[in-house]
Amino acid sequence: MRFQYRILNILLAAAVLVSLSACGPSPDPSSASSNGASQSAASTPRNRMPSDPALKSLYIQSCYGCHSTGVASAPRSGNTADWAPRLQKGMNVLLHNTINGINSMPPKGMCIGCSDEEFTRLILFLSGQSE
Ligand code: HEC
Repeated sequence: MRFQYRILNILLAAAVLVSLSACGPSPDPSSASSNGASQSAASTPRNRMPSDPALKSLYIQSCYGCHSTGVASAPRSGNTADWAPRLQKGMNVLLHNTINGINSMPPKGMCIGCSDEEFTRLILFLSGQSE
């Protein structure tokens, strides 16, 4: 029991460190709430989830692995600063790049069965324009 407790503590400490470092260089997302993006103060890229259960499971299976922590400089979920330059490209380009892949982003973001509509909803969620 005692050993397990120690492991749990180490895991917790590691999780805190990872989430701290993931938020480190970027501005606090909650300070950007004045632009109308609906974001709760406790929301971080790692614990943000779509409110629709079906979209949530697609998100967890595909996009979450990279976009929650910013693997290979993937724009982080709900991070206004990460997404601002992407959104300037327009939704059609973002959808096209999601389906065909761009640099380290694999084609279809590893969601082979996702429809265009689901990709659009996932992009809106990732970029902080929907919950
Ligand atoms: C294997 C990691 C990985 C997965 C899985 C992944 N992405 Fe990405 N994504 C990236 C990276 C890295 C970039 C940044 C690419 C670049 O611009 O260099 C990116 C960029 C994007 C962009 C911005 C494209 C642009 O034109 O600027 C969108 C939109 C996007 N991803 C959507 C998604 C969606 C939706 C999913 C899930 C269906 C997903 N991604 C899954 C790694 C991933």
